[in-house]
Amino acid sequence: MPKPDLSVSIAGVTFKNPVTTASGTFGSGMEYSEFVDLNRLGAVTTKGVASSPWEGNPVPRVTEVYGGMLNAIGLQNPGVEVFVKRDLEYLKQFDTRVIVNVCGRTEEEYLAVVERLSEEAVDLLEINVSCPNVKEGAIAFGQDPDALFRITDKIRRIATQPVIMKLTPNVTSIAEMARAAEAGGADAISLINTITGMKIDIERRTFVLANKTGGMSGPAIKPVAVRMVWQAAQAVKIPIIGMGGIASAEDAIEFILAGATMVAAGAMQFHNPCLTMEIIDGIEAYMVRHQIEHVTDLIGTVQ
Ligand SMILES: Cc1cc2nc3c(=O)[nH]c(=O)nc-3n(C[C@H](O)[C@H](O)[C@H](O)COP(=O)(O)O)c2cc1C
Repeated sequence: MPKPDLSVSIAGVTFKNPVTTASGTFGSGMEYSEFVDLNRLGAVTTKGVASSPWEGNPVPRVTEVYGGMLNAIGLQNPGVEVFVKRDLEYLKQFDTRVIVNVCGRTEEEYLAVVERLSEEAVDLLEINVSCPNVKEGAIAFGQDPDALFRITDKIRRIATQPVIMKLTPNVTSIAEMARAAEAGGADAISLINTITGMKIDIERRTFVLANKTGGMSGPAIKPVAVRMVWQAAQAVKIPIIGMGGIASAEDAIEFILAGATMVAAGAMQFHNPCLTMEIIDGIEAYMVRHQIEHVTDLIGTVQ
């Protein structure tokens, strides 16, 4: 059998393999460069960037829980100008695709970032309308299908790069939200963002996180994520980037079989910084074992 073909494409952009990083768990790759050869990644997906610097929420803002972690970072970021000069400049040296995650409190803020990035070396935009940890904007757009449709449509009209809408699992019907993003013109969707959770310190009788609630990530959320990717894949024709608790190549393959064209490693990289490399090798080994020539032949083939 010839060497398996791991390449995939989304909106005309080709990726050498289907593996990327979940936003906010990889920075822009600098901190991981000791463990990960960025040239081997299908894409680097960056931490969310806003039009101006955000300080994020008060500490404590991360805590471990059974099967994962809760975070309430609140989208701390240096703002798009620093990001372009520092992070995009850094990423230019690697032979990988760059997906920039965009956040905002208002429609104008999202549009300002999208416009600022339009002439930069960015392959795709991922729009975070699903962060549970900021008070205004973000999740409000992602929990109402009409609002999601409208913001997707506005972004699509000014974006020069393909647009991925990142969906929240904190909704009743993921299929309805996926359809709203597709109707608004999204080129792809990514899911899932974190599931809203809470942890209480029973001795002090206080909330563990200063924000009280936080977003749950890690292996415990994987079955929910796989189910939602499958439901979204039944509802729309646009490609899906699947994530949520991926800890191994086997986990990543589950998402692909459920209907994901690409997969993202997230919080489990804190536990195993080499995870993305292991996923790429593991998908290739699986394809050899099952005599699959193209990874695209696996997408959505669960029976
Ligand atoms: C510390 C941390 C920061 C995150 N920051 C962002 C972010 O800036 N933008 C975003 O869209 N998602 C963010 N996420 C969500 C992840 O990209 C991912 O959707 C989620 O954690 C589920 O995947 P996982 O269980 O593999 O981590 C963050 C997650 C964590 C744990």
